[in-house]
Amino acid sequence: MARNTPSFVCQNCGAVTSRWQGKCDSCGEWNTIVEEGGASDIGAGPGRPARKGRAFTLEPLAGQTQEAPRLASGIAELDRVTGGGFVRGSVLLLGGDPGIGKSTLLIQTTAALARAGHRSVYISGEEAVAQVRLRAERLGLSSAPVELAAETSVEDIIATLSQGKTPRLVIIDSIQTMWTNAVESAPGTVTQVRGATQVLIRYAKKSGASIILVGHVTKDGQIAGPRVVEHMVDAVMSFEGEGAHLFRILRAMKNRFGPTDEIGVFEMTGGGLREVQNPSELFLSERDLGAPGTAVFAGVEGSRPLLVEMQALVAPTTLGTPRRAVVGWDQNRLSMVLAVLEAHCGVKLGGHDVYLNVAGGLRIQEPAADLAAAAALVSSLANAPLPADAVYFGEVSLSGMVRPVAQTAARLKEAQKLGFARAICPEPGREGAPEAGLTINGVGGLANLVADIASRGAPGRRTNAPRPVAARAGAPALTTRKPAGDDFDNLG
Ligand code: TYD
Ligand code: MG
Repeated sequence: MARNTPSFVCQNCGAVTSRWQGKCDSCGEWNTIVEEGGASDIGAGPGRPARKGRAFTLEPLAGQTQEAPRLASGIAELDRVTGGGFVRGSVLLLGGDPGIGKSTLLIQTTAALARAGHRSVYISGEEAVAQVRLRAERLGLSSAPVELAAETSVEDIIATLSQGKTPRLVIIDSIQTMWTNAVESAPGTVTQVRGATQVLIRYAKKSGASIILVGHVTKDGQIAGPRVVEHMVDAVMSFEGEGAHLFRILRAMKNRFGPTDEIGVFEMTGGGLREVQNPSELFLSERDLGAPGTAVFAGVEGSRPLLVEMQALVAPTTLGTPRRAVVGWDQNRLSMVLAVLEAHCGVKLGGHDVYLNVAGGLRIQEPAADLAAAAALVSSLANAPLPADAVYFGEVSLSGMVRPVAQTAARLKEAQKLGFARAICPEPGREGAPEAGLTINGVGGLANLVADIASRGAPGRRTNAPRPVAARAGAPALTTRKPAGDDFDNLG
């Protein structure tokens, strides 16, 4: 007869082991392995009485579907990210660094819903009622009929919420402070966080209330506590921002009911979070016009075009291995662009440190930023400022060609709206250039762009004195324009 062998489950990643260990082999976390039930829970052995299966009805693929009933918060930047509002019975996890503004965003959201006549409850496990009131007062929201409590027991919370009308939105700030009777470990432990989340999810599904859980973020940017919580909830959002900048970006990392590529932009003001309807204006507001090493990238985040400045600094290195540092963009893409510049455009960067920064603390994921990054890098190396009225976009392939990207028309329209006169972008495809009020400079290969930028450079201002290009054999001539310096070996 099969014995019920206990199984040990990592509370962080869910990996199962046959014996207890201090460290999980799968995710590397310490003290997350907990004994859970017997192995007979799954795959009943011969010792378990066989249960007769119950027949259920199979459904055809076609049929009546119910549109998820959503409730828009009225905060457009938030609704954009959730996909149009809070879905009934859904649970959303909001992560972010301490002090970034999660509690502020959520008190504003509950106030907006309460004012629109929906029952909204704000449960704070971190702050006293008086502190939450004080913040609401600062934000001018005291008059909103939000129901408020400072509580940490999920059983008590659910018992309270079950009285009267089902709330439409419940905020739990934060999930790490909650605890449930169902689990014995101390509040804040992984097991407790998971247990409390489970109880709250069950309540949401049963009652139809939408719940937002606030989750703390660890130093490396993960939502603290079990990763499994991320799998349990319907949507995961993160609230991001740079300490020094006032704007905050809300991003969906997982969304069962909406897109994950939209971003919401807010600005932290003395009166709380303000929506930013035109983020491009904000991101370009502190532009360093005429400085070498900056290029404006015409990007798209979700359905919205967004103009940002990419800044590069290329400086001779004093180290054996030159530094490649990047903030706001993918390190691997930077390496790729540098390799293409070296291999196909004759730009030598082996002796230079390279720094690339996306201004304003935005994080870009699009490959369309390749061309803007390359332009900024070459501009810095050649000490040649790029034209202030130009935007750049296009994907660079490993062969050095500039490839078309999606949503060209939207990018061009946004650039024109903000007063740009030129777009440096991939050659228009078969369908021809989209109607735009700006000049389109199609770039077929990255080498053409490099030659163009290098020709604007101010030689002599760089530390490397220009040397006759003919001294190095084998370098293919691309153009007859004057070389900007020693770092371009195939122009001459
Ligand atoms: P908070 O919402 O408490 O952050 P979190 O819940 O993510 O930890 O925000 C706290 C910060 O926001 C704090 O540093 C002060 C700032 N803040 C403002 O600048 N203006 C305001 O109106 C409010 C309420 C907060
Ligand atoms: Mg808070």
